[in-house]
Amino acid sequence: MKSLWKGLALILVLSICSLKVLVAQSDAYQLTIDASTSKAKIQPTMYGIFFEDINFAADGGLYAELVKNRGFEFPLPKMGWLEPNSDRHSLNTASGMGTIIKTENQPANRNILRVMVNNDQGYELINEGFRGMGIKEGQAYDLSFQAAKGEGRISQINFQLIGENGKVIGETSVAPTSANWQVYTSVIKADATAEKARLKITFQGTGLIDLDMISLFPQDTWKGRKYGLRKDLVQLLYDMDPGFLRFPGGCIVEGRTLAQRYQWKKTVGPIEEREALVNRWNTEFNHRLTPDYYQSFGLGFFEYFQLAEDIGAEAMPILGCGMACQFNTGELVPMDELGPYVQDALDLIEFANGDVSTPWGKVRSEMGHPEPFNMTYIGIGNEQWGPEYIKRYLVFEEAIKAKYPDIVIISGSGPFPDGEYFEYGMEELTKLNAAIVDEHYYRSPEWFRENATRYDSYDRNGPKIFAGEYAAQSVAIASPDNKNNWNCALSEAAYMTGLERNADLVVMTSYAPLMAHAEGWQWTPDMIWFNNLQAYGTANYYVQKMYANNAGTDLLQVTLDGQPVTGQHQLYASSVMDENTNQVIVKVANTGAEAQSLKLVFNGAKVGKEAEVWTMATDELEAVNSFEEPMKISPQASTAMLKKSSLEVKIPAHAFVVYKIGLR
Ligand code: AHR
Repeated sequence: MKSLWKGLALILVLSICSLKVLVAQSDAYQLTIDASTSKAKIQPTMYGIFFEDINFAADGGLYAELVKNRGFEFPLPKMGWLEPNSDRHSLNTASGMGTIIKTENQPANRNILRVMVNNDQGYELINEGFRGMGIKEGQAYDLSFQAAKGEGRISQINFQLIGENGKVIGETSVAPTSANWQVYTSVIKADATAEKARLKITFQGTGLIDLDMISLFPQDTWKGRKYGLRKDLVQLLYDMDPGFLRFPGGCIVEGRTLAQRYQWKKTVGPIEEREALVNRWNTEFNHRLTPDYYQSFGLGFFEYFQLAEDIGAEAMPILGCGMACQFNTGELVPMDELGPYVQDALDLIEFANGDVSTPWGKVRSEMGHPEPFNMTYIGIGNEQWGPEYIKRYLVFEEAIKAKYPDIVIISGSGPFPDGEYFEYGMEELTKLNAAIVDEHYYRSPEWFRENATRYDSYDRNGPKIFAGEYAAQSVAIASPDNKNNWNCALSEAAYMTGLERNADLVVMTSYAPLMAHAEGWQWTPDMIWFNNLQAYGTANYYVQKMYANNAGTDLLQVTLDGQPVTGQHQLYASSVMDENTNQVIVKVANTGAEAQSLKLVFNGAKVGKEAEVWTMATDELEAVNSFEEPMKISPQASTAMLKKSSLEVKIPAHAFVVYKIGLR
């Protein structure tokens, strides 16, 4: 009898369980993917990169130079340099001293350091790097400098890398031979790793010697290019497979004053002739002052074009339009003096695409790239607003279209995604039949989740859209407390289904800003963080990567109860077909706190039996990646089986998932 009761109880439990499964399955939200029709072509430029030299992203970051102020050209010419044994107030120092001399040789590189050594080995000159120098054990570093010997007998210059503990971790010596300026080179092999090494220079013999352009680069750069870019940082960009590279910003394009605007012509040609300029982010924020932030332009327009080519992205330069940043001085170039600014734009197109027989094509060729860069896009103005912008934009547009009708011009709608400036800009640019308008939004995570339908109602006869700068702000715009947390990244993932669903209109998108040095930053959040030795992608980076790696070629319709999936039950979805890989790709974000059962039903195509599933999920909305846990929130791979052309899955709570299914 006892066993009969036990049996009955077991049957009851099993039936409840199977009932639960049934309920769970019938509770599944059905997402229907219509794979029969391409709703629009996905532009190859859909997911790209916005690069700006903010947060030490160029000097101290991507540009691998380890010496700060190598040419003594900062307004405080010895900034970054220390002379520990020298008394700068007394000419009769026991050890010696360095004096800045202004020469007339090169207007861009006037300052040299005249070193007077009074005591053999007693005088020390130390460069502190960008919050130190990242040195890796076993790696080789290219040292170079210019020198001209003066009176006396300086027979040797010693270069030592000093680790945090004060120990020498690599060294070399060079014997200067000439009284004329000469370039000297050597290599330092490091026998230990240090995140904050310094370069110490001492002298053998006494006397005078002039020095300039003291430089140290790792040999292990991206593609092994001499004096090139930091390999780990470019690798992160390359891995995204971005559709375009926008450069050089951002507000840096405009400058706080017109004199401080970015002038591309000053960033090409020999590096010692590139004139250093203050970085506009140097003292922009009182809460994050970086007074030693300058632009050496070692990473200049040639290098940007080359980088774009290296990572397979369209180059997208943005030029100033005769308006300094309107958040700062807002200085304006009078309309009748706009000529040189417009000429800069025309010359840039020649620099990028012109034949080697043209003046600017020749400059490109002499820099090592005789083939054109085949640039298609140019941006005019960054975050300008109001009638003065429209007036100036028109002058550029007319000149560019007249000479280069195939170049696509990008205009801007200002710093905000709504309000007076935005409405005015959009209306005027629409009237002008502008090709592509750049929109910027730094908003709360909630805003991102609530605006996944932003583009559903845009006029399809108006300009195409470039979502050129966006990022969810966990606290407030430009707050130093903003975090690259999962809440922000997931909200962006949800929002981006809306960008993708509107791929007929939205042709380019990019998160901003791109990079930040862990100690040298001014603005947060940022997509990639680095220190002198390491770099990691944030959760936001992996969301961008998931989209860019799975951009597809054709937009498909995905619906829930016949409607686009834009937040019902806290679900967001978009779908594409990739005709190169012959796959259907479905992206789903679940912003809710509960896991959800989903049934993906594929109509209009024969799908395979197995799905590749890439999941980013954590219940911890505040979670962030870090140097200690760089992959804490990153896509995890798994598989799932389809049944009768449909996929039944459970999407975890707070998750972004990409499902990829081959077509038969
Ligand atoms: O991305 C940081 C800044 O935000 C950009 O320079 C500017 O365009 C925007 O205001």
